Amino acid sequence: MSVVAPSFEAERPKNPVLRLEGVSKIYGSGAARKIALDAATLEIHPATVTALVGHSGSGKSTLLNIAGGLEQATSGTVILAGEVLSRLGARQLTALRARAVSYVFQEYNLIRTMTVLENVCLPLELAGTGAKQARQRAGEVLEQVGTAQHRAKFPDQLSGGEQQRVAIARAIADHRPLLLADEPTGALDSANGERVVELLKGIAATGVACVIATHNKDVTRAADRIVQMRDGKITAGAA
Ligand SMILES: Nc1ncnc2c1ncn2[C@@H]1O[C@H](COP(=O)(O)OP(=O)(O)OP(=O)(O)O)[C@@H](O)[C@H]1O
Ligand SMILES: [Mg+2]
Repeated sequence: MSVVAPSFEAERPKNPVLRLEGVSKIYGSGAARKIALDAATLEIHPATVTALVGHSGSGKSTLLNIAGGLEQATSGTVILAGEVLSRLGARQLTALRARAVSYVFQEYNLIRTMTVLENVCLPLELAGTGAKQARQRAGEVLEQVGTAQHRAKFPDQLSGGEQQRVAIARAIADHRPLLLADEPTGALDSANGERVVELLKGIAATGVACVIATHNKDVTRAADRIVQMRDGKITAGAA
């Protein structure tokens, strides 16, 4: 008699894009020793927006930098897109980051010698998109964030808020499974802040997991989940 195994596929929760297990980060030593992240455990799932909140110095940027493989944890395990980061060599880590993570940094990190359009094309081209297609996609996302008219300018010729929107365009141009954004609305007025919140929600709806460190109430309100940090610890919202 043959037995057909029932499919539990629909009931099984999707694999997390990111998992932190007891992750700590200690800077310095002796009197300068600082526990920036203290045994943080967290799972982030596809198609969600998570707001990471907490006072200045609570560890939000540290958590994002470690989650995205930009900094190494002192202890604990970081699993990104199914890979344990500490087991990867430098080249494997770079390749994984290019495939799996987009960032919007607190200080934008646009490349000053490249135009706005070239900045947005860069991650697409790094991921293998042809130049013509990359320019077309870059044009679309610059339109979405309202900076298409600045495409031929260099970052230094833009205001802080405009640079921030270009940084957001660069991060959403390529659909990587995890988007980490550090205060993406910090330099924006409320209209542009709301526009960015809507954009990020739209990106999440396509399956991307967005984690946003923020002090902005609009972002927090729009998020599916709020993770609260205090003194390097996750104090609420981890589950
Ligand atoms: N490279 C570093 N060397 C030493 N200490 C650091 C370093 N980076 C961060 N810290 C310390 O770790 C703690 C957490 O910093 P972090 O930047 O993660 O905070 P944050 O929550 O992002 O703050 P903000 O809201 O101001 O951006 C702070 O006390 C900070 O001073
Ligand atoms: Mg920060």
